[in-house]
Amino acid sequence: MIKRFFIPVLCATSLLLSSCASSQKNSATQPIPSLKEIFKNDFAIGTALNTAQIEEKDAKVDALIKQQFNMATPENIMKAEIIHPQWDKYDFTVADKMIEYGEKNNIKINGHTLVWHSQLPAFARNIKNVDSFKTFFSNHINTVAGRYSGKIFSWDVVNEALNEDGTMRKSIFLDRLGDNFVTEAFRLAAAASPNTELYYNDYNNEQPAKRAGCIALVKKVQAAGVRIDGVGIQGHWHAGKVPFKDIEASILEYSALGLKVMFTEVDIEVLPRNFSGADVSQRMKEDPSLNPYVNGLPDSVQQQLANDYAALFNLFLKHKDKITRVTFWGVDDGQSWLNGWPVRGRTNHPLLFDRALQPKPAFYKVIETKKNEKKGF
Ligand code: XIL
Repeated sequence: MIKRFFIPVLCATSLLLSSCASSQKNSATQPIPSLKEIFKNDFAIGTALNTAQIEEKDAKVDALIKQQFNMATPENIMKAEIIHPQWDKYDFTVADKMIEYGEKNNIKINGHTLVWHSQLPAFARNIKNVDSFKTFFSNHINTVAGRYSGKIFSWDVVNEALNEDGTMRKSIFLDRLGDNFVTEAFRLAAAASPNTELYYNDYNNEQPAKRAGCIALVKKVQAAGVRIDGVGIQGHWHAGKVPFKDIEASILEYSALGLKVMFTEVDIEVLPRNFSGADVSQRMKEDPSLNPYVNGLPDSVQQQLANDYAALFNLFLKHKDKITRVTFWGVDDGQSWLNGWPVRGRTNHPLLFDRALQPKPAFYKVIETKKNEKKGF
């Protein structure tokens, strides 16, 4: 166990984290619990990794990742604009490193993502001819999924193909290939990587209308006799507004289709927002009033975040027979994409570890959910 992850016993047990810093030096220490250990019989615990983390640039972050997580998703480096920058050119440099990193550290890799309208390379966005687009589509899936066949645990085969009302999003894929493109993507991925789990992934697909669209989409793939193993609910939620009832209904309805359910990009943001979901093309204007917690979270918000995370994990535990993985979209608050989206340059606090890599009250509340489950609460 690595020394830097020792924290005062008092803090761990009493949850009085805000007052821990000053007492840290003198108290007896114990290691902070490991999420992957605590939930090892329930579901896998994942994180998104950026290039610096894959390349093990920072020893402290690296040790924390290895201590806490048994699955990892590349935050960006397997997206088409990076891995397939030109028609006949692929760049597997960092993706290969991620596979090695996973093998070396016993961390399973969740590939993200084969088909997504966002972060597409310029050449693909400019393909007007339908046959050429079909060739790009199948070359991309065959080459990328084929390369990592047998080495990667799962693929988000298609990401975000739906609108909020459950209809198909008007993306370049729908426009060039028609609404069968989702089924075709799964057919190609299953052939290129037969032993990899294959998922459909989206945000807000716990909401009733989008959920209904998602179910229809899955049924269409299944009706075509094509393999689909699971549905990923991204889980980009907002403190105080986590839709617990819809999440529970979604777990039940998706698993009733014979699918694994996973939470693939969990973060609970605390900053003001005038819309929900995670459409990366949606933005808000910068304004100092939208960035209130530059110097840290007030206690009330810290507690709200902790309570939301606790309620979420209580729900996950209640349905652990249906949930295979919970992945956080980042290791610590400093890494979170929510510092730059939907408003640039904010200080957000959506994860379980703070910028100094210290566990937050939400972390300990999540650990408590397992202890309480054992006690039968
Ligand atoms: C985000 C990354 O975290 C950012 O670094 C990048 O600039 C934009 O994409 N839904 C997804 C993820 O499926 O791929 C997105 O990741 C967040 C929303």
